[in-house]
Amino acid sequence: MAEVTLDLRHIPKERAYAQLHAHLLGVLAGIDDDIAGMATLASLIHHGFRHLWTGFYRVVGPDKLRVGPYQGTVGCLDIAFGRGVCGTAAAERRTVIVPEVDRFPGHISCDARAKSEIVVPVFDKSGGLIAVLDIDSERRATFDQQDADGLERIVRWFAGEGRG
Ligand code: SME
Repeated sequence: MAEVTLDLRHIPKERAYAQLHAHLLGVLAGIDDDIAGMATLASLIHHGFRHLWTGFYRVVGPDKLRVGPYQGTVGCLDIAFGRGVCGTAAAERRTVIVPEVDRFPGHISCDARAKSEIVVPVFDKSGGLIAVLDIDSERRATFDQQDADGLERIVRWFAGEGRG
């Protein structure tokens, strides 16, 4: 299959996420597999926006996250709930937007180029937390509520929205 790489950098965010959402539903049509979904979403989001790092940390034990499919330089392997931005989003089951990573107490630095970050919780259809989606940017204040809304909608695929 010849795949199209979207360039979403210079269009309004609401439209960019709508385009991304439609694209991923098409690419994932007929797929009912979380890891395939994570790998595909990470690739589409990362290349669409040219982010620094885009990927998933999966819940692999009580209060424990482990790296899953991602795009970018090597990410740290394990993160405890409550630690860093990912662990905070997991423990509190909410999206965390960090405009300046240096100002987030306990931020875990995997790549010194990262300046801002967003982490979105991923739930299954029973409302169980299965992962977090973590995105890092080389620029400060990259992410806002529109990113949170767009990404939260996209990860609802793992809860069954538009899936299979
Ligand atoms: N910065 C994250 C750690 C993961 S890396 O960014 C890939 C955090 O503070 O949880």
